Amino acid sequence: MKPIQLFDPASSTYTYVLFDEASREALIIDPVDEQLERDLQVLREYGLKLVWAVETHAHADHITSAGRLAEHTGAQTAAPEACGIRTAAVQLADGRALHFGSQTVRALHTPGHTAGSMSYLWQEGGQAHVFTGDTLLINGCGRTDFQSGSAEALYRSLTQVLFALPDNTLVWPGHDYQGRTHSTIGAEKATNARVAGKTLAEFKATMDSLNLPKPRRIDEAVPANLSSGMRHDAGGALLMTVRAATGYAGDVSPQLAYEWWKTGQAVLIDVRTDAEREWVGFVPEAIALAWKQWPGMALNPDFDTGIRAAVPPGTKAVLLCRSGVRSIAAAKRASELGIEAYNILEGFEGDPDDQAHRGRRGGWRYHGLPWRQG
Ligand SMILES: [Fe+2]
Repeated sequence: MKPIQLFDPASSTYTYVLFDEASREALIIDPVDEQLERDLQVLREYGLKLVWAVETHAHADHITSAGRLAEHTGAQTAAPEACGIRTAAVQLADGRALHFGSQTVRALHTPGHTAGSMSYLWQEGGQAHVFTGDTLLINGCGRTDFQSGSAEALYRSLTQVLFALPDNTLVWPGHDYQGRTHSTIGAEKATNARVAGKTLAEFKATMDSLNLPKPRRIDEAVPANLSSGMRHDAGGALLMTVRAATGYAGDVSPQLAYEWWKTGQAVLIDVRTDAEREWVGFVPEAIALAWKQWPGMALNPDFDTGIRAAVPPGTKAVLLCRSGVRSIAAAKRASELGIEAYNILEGFEGDPDDQAHRGRRGGWRYHGLPWRQG
């Protein structure tokens, strides 16, 4: 069985959907933001349940839809650990296997185009497939002149990792600008104009003399892709403004809270219960201090001591709960204790939508801010 190969004409990007026939579980590689509706339609048509949305690297030429796909389908996002995509739920190390149904895809670290770049190997029936991103293209390879690229590393990845695969392995590239769909390891080893029969020095000389223009969308795409395509800049001014409140310092957007926290102006305090963080997800490095706690959702008797200890003088506190209700109560109490305390609007999960599902209407997670599954 072959992967479903999808094409984005604006960026000449290939997206791949791999699935397990029996369970209908699927994995998508390098989904493109503008093609979200098409990809959801493909999943519906084939009757697939997406379980993984995977990146080969942090792209400079298009924005990923991985974050939004995950919100729509419940898939988990995964990205190479050295790409700095902190919103990805799973950070992939070399050799890591991803399972969907009875199928397995294995991550191969193939640095060079970027330091974190990975290829993905899929053994399906008797056929091996490798998804090479921008590491190996048909009769070409990705550039190495920006984004932590290295011609030496790319040469090693091509000649020692990818060309070590069996010759009949099918090569599925991240792009093609001439309508070609796939190749084989054997063909690329024999005829790839950049690398076939070239020494490292020859390869480096070629790569150094390409003089390619800067990608049109790099300044926009790379920052967005570092948060799985979830943008923090929509609605600019209002998002970064404190809204007045009574009884505590004010209401802030998740984005403003994140900025204060990351720049050391505020301490981030998660006031949900241990069980909620465990089941729904948590914000790495946030201080966990429940406002109420099971059993019985009684007020946490240690809240006052805990928040006094957590917030140094002169620092703000930004309080996060599920949807911004408990965090108001907690912010009021903190204010009584003399702390400059803010409520984070929408909380971790946002408000419920028409089907009573959370996570699709705002919230820390929806906006692509860092979090992890428990
Ligand atoms: Fe790339």
